[in-house]
Amino acid sequence: MNFSKLPAAVSLREVGPRDGLQNEDPVSTDDKVRLLDALSQTGVGRIEAVSFVHPRAIPQMADAAEVWARAKKNPDVRYSALVPNTKGAHRALEAGFTEIEVVVSASNTHNEKNVNRSTEDSLDDITGLISLLHKENASAEVIISTSFGCPYEGDVDPARVAAIVDRVIADGADRVSFGDTTGMGTPRRVAELLELVRGSHADTPLLLHFHNTRGTALANILTALDYGITEFDASVGGLGGCPYAPGATGNVASEEVVHMLADMGIDTGVDLHALIEAARLAQDIVGRELPSGVLRAGPRLPE
Ligand code: COA
Ligand code: ZN
Repeated sequence: MNFSKLPAAVSLREVGPRDGLQNEDPVSTDDKVRLLDALSQTGVGRIEAVSFVHPRAIPQMADAAEVWARAKKNPDVRYSALVPNTKGAHRALEAGFTEIEVVVSASNTHNEKNVNRSTEDSLDDITGLISLLHKENASAEVIISTSFGCPYEGDVDPARVAAIVDRVIADGADRVSFGDTTGMGTPRRVAELLELVRGSHADTPLLLHFHNTRGTALANILTALDYGITEFDASVGGLGGCPYAPGATGNVASEEVVHMLADMGIDTGVDLHALIEAARLAQDIVGRELPSGVLRAGPRLPE
């Protein structure tokens, strides 16, 4: 790998308050606000704050509007909300979000389990949802879950993922994100997908979202960096998972990503010490030890 050719800076999006907390036992509204406020002070540039989903599907996000109303917004942070459908988009707009992520799974079985409809039906909903968001001066990111494999269907053909990318960009999506929902991604799979999609839509930012279920997340990030990808999701302490994906564990820990990138001279804007403090708070809030190695061992980088 030619380190001098890697990007000089990376834009991290902290997803612990949503992807993390949705997979933990429900915590109080106060604790959610405390975690968001702590993360807003770490220097991280983007935070996925909440999701607007059915409270029966994800009770952990039932108080999303209240959490968001009470959070202290830092003007230097871009906040976003995840939605599964148009109804969720209306709720997110009403709450005041201007950056919205809508999720669809490349695997039809996962889409049925996650949002109770086929991938095709979700894509039809997304077409209208993107124009609705643009009319309301909000941006639309499409997250393609199970981009590197599905816990029910196994391999997902990268050509199928690429076809979804083509469709949602034709529909006006502002950004596309590839979700490794259940940690099935490997450097080979990341390279295969990026080979297929990166050239064709040069103006659309691509973002990668890895879970560390099988320990490959940092290797996947390194592979994507080599392809010039500069936007990644990560979760404080490694909180997280997916309630509709058996055995799924947390996202790659934000501290581990920041630690690795800092040592490589790649700027994230994040203060690692402040982030570790936020990870300690997350650990207290959920009441279990989080998997982040940097949280457990401390930051062994030059001060
Ligand atoms: N937020 C709150 N309520 C919603 C909603 C949303 N985003 N979308 C639909 N509903 C309500 C409808 O208004 C309707 O209410 P009513 O019964 O009072 O009329 C009811 O839910 C059923 O609507 P329907 O469109 O048939 O939804 P569904 O039962 O098929 O559920 C989802 C579909 C998408 C709402 C649900 O599966 C869901 O929230 N999934 C999210 C899963 C998730 O967050 N996974 C992790 C992130 S990837
Ligand atoms: Zn996830």
